[in-house]
Amino acid sequence: MTDENLFFMRSPWEFDPNHQRPVENEQGFATKALHAGFRPDGDLERFRAFAAPIVPSMTYPYEHFDKIPYPVYGRTKTPTADLLEQRLAALEGGETAVSAGSGSQALFNLMFTICRPGDNVVTSLNIFGEGYKQAASIFPERCGVKFRFVKNPADPKSWDQEIDGKTKLVWVETPSNPTLFVTDLKAIADVAHSHKVPLMVDNTTATAAIQRPMEFGADIILLSITKFLAGNGTVLGGAIVGPESLTEDIRWNTTEFVGAIMQPFDSWLTLQYLETLPLRMDRHSANTQAVAEFLTNHPKVKLVNYPGLKTHPQYELAKRQMKSGGGMLSFVVEGGIPSARIVMNAFKLVIHAVTFGTSRTICMHPRTITHEHLTQEERDIAGIDDGLIRLSVGLEDPKDIIADLDQALSKL
Ligand SMILES: Cc1ncc(COP(=O)(O)O)c(C=O)c1O
Repeated sequence: MTDENLFFMRSPWEFDPNHQRPVENEQGFATKALHAGFRPDGDLERFRAFAAPIVPSMTYPYEHFDKIPYPVYGRTKTPTADLLEQRLAALEGGETAVSAGSGSQALFNLMFTICRPGDNVVTSLNIFGEGYKQAASIFPERCGVKFRFVKNPADPKSWDQEIDGKTKLVWVETPSNPTLFVTDLKAIADVAHSHKVPLMVDNTTATAAIQRPMEFGADIILLSITKFLAGNGTVLGGAIVGPESLTEDIRWNTTEFVGAIMQPFDSWLTLQYLETLPLRMDRHSANTQAVAEFLTNHPKVKLVNYPGLKTHPQYELAKRQMKSGGGMLSFVVEGGIPSARIVMNAFKLVIHAVTFGTSRTICMHPRTITHEHLTQEERDIAGIDDGLIRLSVGLEDPKDIIADLDQALSKL
């Protein structure tokens, strides 16, 4: 590499513990979900239209030899993804966002951008399966970045003990997939900040319609768009919301040079779907609450994990952090994998598939599908029982979901 090319070696992002959070306008969440980032009569003069435009172009002509257009090429940014990023940032209450080809890719882009060999990230075992695979294998083995899994995530001291001078990020997923463990956002933000380390919260399971982690001190938000944000299993995407210094560093390192972007059409679809996010999340929560209460009283069910239930160990904390319980629960049937197999094979309405946050109810078996790489000891700590079934409760009439669960459980 010649000296002129050294500008490529951009230095890793430094967290500024005193970073200013954006001042939010007074619009409500539902209004932002419909309007943030795009006014039909606003600055997009050439695209005057009621719905935001899709701009599929992957290159953007120069007006003049000496003036590089921005965006210049689709790997960096596209106008439609730009609108989506503005809307996501507004919904989370963050400064800016950078989208990615999936939620897992957004996580990868973040850690790849801010960590160097020898650094570490502090998290817990309450994280989604692909996140665990990045943390337990890809980053340590390929990049020399270590991950520390706190022993007791309910205790802020346990987080405090794992953070040291090489910690670049504290990563919390709450409520977690698939056990719906709830982490105290304010307490862990305080711990992270006492070490001058940023707190990243994966807000995929709740979405900003139910929980706004930045109001509790989070600095960075990870989102899988694939789940509730899109809401029907037709889009793969993800995003990081955070200070502009960070999102632009991510864009530089992982989209500009690698092309880890969300496509214009997917961005556009997501903009349409986000318009109904608050309505959908209210209905997902109401349905899930009804299903959770039914399962709690079922004799074949050993345990129900749902933050909206008074029996949830962090029910009071969930009430402080979340507007409602959200659209996902998990439950344990007696008899481990053979029983889970019987129940899941018996469903007639509930669909057996790998994702969640869809309009239709979906079930999945974490022990064999997403959390299969954890050791038995790690699974015990994380509560991934052999008989655990994850249920993403859809928008159907709740009585029909309950009737299907009832008939499937009667096969045990
Ligand atoms: C909590 C959570 N965050 C992020 C992701 C990653 O999302 P994607 O499937 O879009 O890669 C997942 C996927 O299951 C998830 O459950």
